[in-house]
Amino acid sequence: MSRRKGIIIKNASELKAMHISARKTATILHKVAAKVAPGVTTSELDEYAAELARKEDGICTFYGYHGYPGHICASINEEVVHGIPGRRVIRDGDVVSIDFGLTYGGFVGDTATTVAAGTIHPEWQRLLDVTRICLEVAIAKAVEGNRLSDISHAVQSLAEGAGFSVVRDFVGHGIGREMHEEPQIKNYGPPGRGPVLKSGMTLAIEPMINLGIHRTQTLGDGWTVITADRQPSAHFEHTVAVGKERAEILTIPDLD
Ligand code: MF3
Ligand code: CO
Ligand code: CO
Repeated sequence: MSRRKGIIIKNASELKAMHISARKTATILHKVAAKVAPGVTTSELDEYAAELARKEDGICTFYGYHGYPGHICASINEEVVHGIPGRRVIRDGDVVSIDFGLTYGGFVGDTATTVAAGTIHPEWQRLLDVTRICLEVAIAKAVEGNRLSDISHAVQSLAEGAGFSVVRDFVGHGIGREMHEEPQIKNYGPPGRGPVLKSGMTLAIEPMINLGIHRTQTLGDGWTVITADRQPSAHFEHTVAVGKERAEILTIPDLD
């Protein structure tokens, strides 16, 4: 590894190890997200993730992180991020965001998706679609020579252009041996600011987009973040490696 302004740049063998870890992370997220359906509780999803991680000899990165009590974050409807798994039953019409982190071979993968349970309101579906595309346009900016805030600006332009708002209180991040490394990656702001991106930087890019206002609150459990207006929120996240020509998404699931 080397560093550029506090951002760790991974060498080829470190990137290979990140890829392996991230692929396992994404495969587990994919399987857990496929279980989301009306009638399922979030603790059932949590236990399933823990079991899959065990089978892969991986460590659930979130579990015990600053005392966090779950293996996944499961955030329903107005819950933005860090929803603690529990007895809450998923209902028809809910949108459920699942975030999962796995440490394997000393490197962390971090990825999230938001899925519909049963039939959801068309406007909520549009929120999911736009947030997924926010992640795609953000990843397209994770190329050597661009500046960090080019990522931020791409998310904000698309989200606000679609009539939604960008969560300000939480950000994406560098990732590697630690889940949260430098830099912090805002999902809003002007382009052309911040460090110049370099091949070998590994980033967790994660737009959090609200249907209503951007403001959030944290519940009394100390973790669960909700929208201030109780309207729904969506969250998608990939771990990516900055490349010379294009970013490489590391959290792509193994589907066989
Ligand atoms: N994975 C989250 C992120 O995307 C962080 C989860 S914090 C935890 O950065 F405590 F819930 F693990
Ligand atoms: Co995450
Ligand atoms: Co993250």
